[in-house]
Amino acid sequence: MSFFDALYAGAASVYGEAPDEFLVEHLPLGGVRSALDAGGGEGRHALWIARTGVTTELIDSSEAAVKRCASRARDAGLALHANAVDLRSWEPQRVYDVVIAAIVLHAFKITRAADVAQRLRRAVAPGGYLYLSAHLAGGAEERMRRETAQEERAERSFYAHDHIKTLFTEEEMRAMAAWEPVASERVEGERCPRPECPYPHDVLRILVQRR
Ligand SMILES: C[S@@+](CC[C@H](N)C(=O)[O-])C[C@H]1O[C@@H](n2cnc3c(N)ncnc32)[C@H](O)[C@@H]1O
Repeated sequence: MSFFDALYAGAASVYGEAPDEFLVEHLPLGGVRSALDAGGGEGRHALWIARTGVTTELIDSSEAAVKRCASRARDAGLALHANAVDLRSWEPQRVYDVVIAAIVLHAFKITRAADVAQRLRRAVAPGGYLYLSAHLAGGAEERMRRETAQEERAERSFYAHDHIKTLFTEEEMRAMAAWEPVASERVEGERCPRPECPYPHDVLRILVQRR
């Protein structure tokens, strides 16, 4: 069982139910009719955006997360389709008015993350939005991971507990977002909703628009 499947097999709402306040505040929803939540987990962003009337897809490699999101969407009568998909081999089949990838790219080494981000950008309709968030290198989390990880599988890709966690530089994040930011925020030392997670995260959130 993968790290994430094991995580989602337990109590519901591992990462909480609320969408990122930053996204709620900055995403202009007028004109948004379709959304993709990539690596969306149990769907805290997908369920939020579907509740606003947007036709939404969630993809995630964890069957457990996808099932939970689909069942919540069904119970609420939402236009939300959730499918088990591995982003490493995913190719966009269409475009969406908004594409969300919240705390997902860290599951890949830097070169693969850049490749996944490039495919996410291809899935954004002209005039549409891309939201990326990730944890940054250079702070307490990187120091702690250097001390405790079993190995560094690639630059800043720390392996422990059967999965890797890559920490990005702000420049790498801005390059993956590629387009001019509508808004961005950097928060130092943010705590994860998972009580067992010991790391204070330096988080970068970027919302960009494809012109
Ligand atoms: C930290 S969680 C974030 C979940 C959600 N985006 C949120 O903000 O609550 C990372 C998610 O990425 C998913 N993930 C990891 N590797 C993946 C892959 N190769 N393809 C698709 N999803 C993946 C995990 O299953 C997990 O749900």
